[in-house]
Amino acid sequence: MRYPAHISDKKGHLHIGSHDTTVLAQKYGTPLYVTDEQRIRENYQLYYDALTGYYDKVQVLYAAKANGNLAVLKVFASLGAGADIFSTGELHLALAAGMNPEHLLFNGSSKTDTDLSTALDKKIRVSLDSVDELLQLDAIAEKAGVTAEVSFRVNPAMDVPTHPKIATGLATSKFGIPAGEIVSAYQAAMDAENILPVGLHCHIGSQILEVEPFAKEAEVLISVARDITDIGVKLRFMDVGGGLGVPYHRDTDPVPTPAEYADAVMPVFLDGISSIGIRPEFWVEPGRYLLADSTVLLSRVNSVKRSHKTFVNVDAGFNLLLRPAMYDSYHEVVVANKAGPEDSKEDKREVVTVTGPICETGDIIAHDRLLPPVESGDLIAILDTGAYGFSMSSQYNSRPRCAEVMVNDSLEGLMRRAESIIDIKQTMNTLPWQK
Ligand code: LLP
Repeated sequence: MRYPAHISDKKGHLHIGSHDTTVLAQKYGTPLYVTDEQRIRENYQLYYDALTGYYDKVQVLYAAKANGNLAVLKVFASLGAGADIFSTGELHLALAAGMNPEHLLFNGSSKTDTDLSTALDKKIRVSLDSVDELLQLDAIAEKAGVTAEVSFRVNPAMDVPTHPKIATGLATSKFGIPAGEIVSAYQAAMDAENILPVGLHCHIGSQILEVEPFAKEAEVLISVARDITDIGVKLRFMDVGGGLGVPYHRDTDPVPTPAEYADAVMPVFLDGISSIGIRPEFWVEPGRYLLADSTVLLSRVNSVKRSHKTFVNVDAGFNLLLRPAMYDSYHEVVVANKAGPEDSKEDKREVVTVTGPICETGDIIAHDRLLPPVESGDLIAILDTGAYGFSMSSQYNSRPRCAEVMVNDSLEGLMRRAESIIDIKQTMNTLPWQK
């Protein structure tokens, strides 16, 4: 299998950077997420350089939902990135990581008064998703005696090649305001006492492995930018939303590059803004591309059951990696302690299904994979789990969430300790009548 550059097998053991995953698993216990900081930096640089090759006013807003760990956010803060935030929790973490409030955008279609007043208090711009939300924010801004700077999220009515649950720009999606209604939304914002529209926002969906949809999205945004400039909006940024997808099927998926993305999108953007006569910042909100391949999830084999199929029962399930159960997603799996060429010889391998410990039939990490013979005690590495892995985890079946480790060259550190049963119990109360 084609590993990314920071993943390798040495003496039969899977390594991430210079770190032997079997040693990390022994030291920190399993399940365990391990993230390579250098890889995040490299992914970011590729993206940033591709865009700035075309335009000098580019701002990357890391999509904090991909992994909201403070250590990860700090890596992005040190690179000069801001963040796409979707909750007051993500807002606080992004600020705690040292991000510039001017480079945060509070997104989402359903925000509480507290979300909005916190954004205003911290001088963070808000992406509005409806005219009703405009009224909600206007009232809060009036009370606070401030002017709220906003963008609207446009719904471009685009079908994109990805899983329907993560195609967000469909006409039928809950997100955004239809392009046909967006000018009147901006007019309402111009008329509101305490609101100043300064941006334009869109997000067509996630895990897209073609660049053309992003170019089409840019066309829609340029046409909206033209219309709202005509009514007097002074656009300071145009935010195209999330970034490229990644090749989860490592040997067969197409691998679109940030350079190809920039070649498709930036000419549309640059021609468009020059014909309108404006120079807004270009904002982009990648999550998956920056994080996915930086991380492996290590999981110990509890037992192997040979029945109508061979089931490899591991200690991580959809409590820790929801993607396969939720979107039928594919992740490559490797037996981390049997990763050498000897172990992968055709005649030795067998077809197995890797299953988690959760009480649901759908708790399957990987269906029908050819792996070296697996026994209890072996270590399974699940690749490309950096984006929407830990961040979508739960305590289902009252299982404490696992730890996250970050490595950086020869360094390693625990960026989140594992939870314990005590953590699970401590938010629960014994009711007075049950004492
Ligand atoms: N901006 C907005 C407004 C978004 O909603 C998202 C993702 C992003 C940026 C980042 O998109 P990316 O660059 O990561 O494609 N849990 C799903 C993915 C959900 C994405 C939600 N929004 C998964 O595991 O595939």
